[in-house]
Amino acid sequence: MMQQLQEATSYIQNNTNSFAPEFGIILGTGLGALVNDIEIAYSLSYADIPHFPVSTVESHSGRLIFGELAGRKVVVMQGRFHYYEGYSMEQVVFPVRVMKLLGVKKLFVSNAAGGLNPRFSTSELMVITDHINLQPSNPLIGKNIDELGPRFPDMSEVYDEEMVRQAMVIAEDANFDLREGVYVSVPGPMLETKAEYRYLSQIGADAVGMSTVPEVIAARHMGIPVFAVSVITDMCTPDRIKKVVLADILEAAAKAEPRMTMIIRELIKQQ
Ligand code: HPA
Repeated sequence: MMQQLQEATSYIQNNTNSFAPEFGIILGTGLGALVNDIEIAYSLSYADIPHFPVSTVESHSGRLIFGELAGRKVVVMQGRFHYYEGYSMEQVVFPVRVMKLLGVKKLFVSNAAGGLNPRFSTSELMVITDHINLQPSNPLIGKNIDELGPRFPDMSEVYDEEMVRQAMVIAEDANFDLREGVYVSVPGPMLETKAEYRYLSQIGADAVGMSTVPEVIAARHMGIPVFAVSVITDMCTPDRIKKVVLADILEAAAKAEPRMTMIIRELIKQQ
């Protein structure tokens, strides 16, 4: 694994004039437009990077972008890998591990999620303060990669509390409600049944989605501080549940995108 990670890293360094990003960003479903705010220096297709998985979801474009956001050097995954696409957990987190080898100091993650907390509404943003992993595996299963991190990584503060606080201030200054809550990851790809939504709500989750947790676990294993935000694309409470199609999720994500982009940009400015 380390050899594969190093080969991918070398390829990237050779093709970006050894661009050294400070921050990593992973963009979720329908949330790719943050890239428009970036002064792009290099853009590599996943398909060209050795050992990189290739995205199969049409709404994800599959490029690793290097450039400046708010004057800081970033690397952005435009399109991520999901467990439901058939990748192993090691494949899902491969790019995050490469980010670490490229020198990334903090990770920013976005996703589209279903709202379980009845106080939420569609197109609102929720800063993730903690998570529950209900995916059937995780990227640390198997022999520990000691070069990356410890066998039993601590998970008592998965999401950086200082960045959560900073994000709340940014939203307050911009005059919009930024929610906080617990994200539960499920394998997907089907959306949940009514009984499953009720269960997820009862075990303490505020939003549900099919991504993020594996990448965050891999980042925390390597000691990288994480900030993550969900865009609530559909409400899943008993009174507001309705049939969901991808087009609705993309529409809700597009509506929330400018606010999400602003938070990540302002947050990066403050690091
Ligand atoms: N469930 C799981 N994943 C999701 C949902 C949902 O309701 N909405 C957007 N991603």
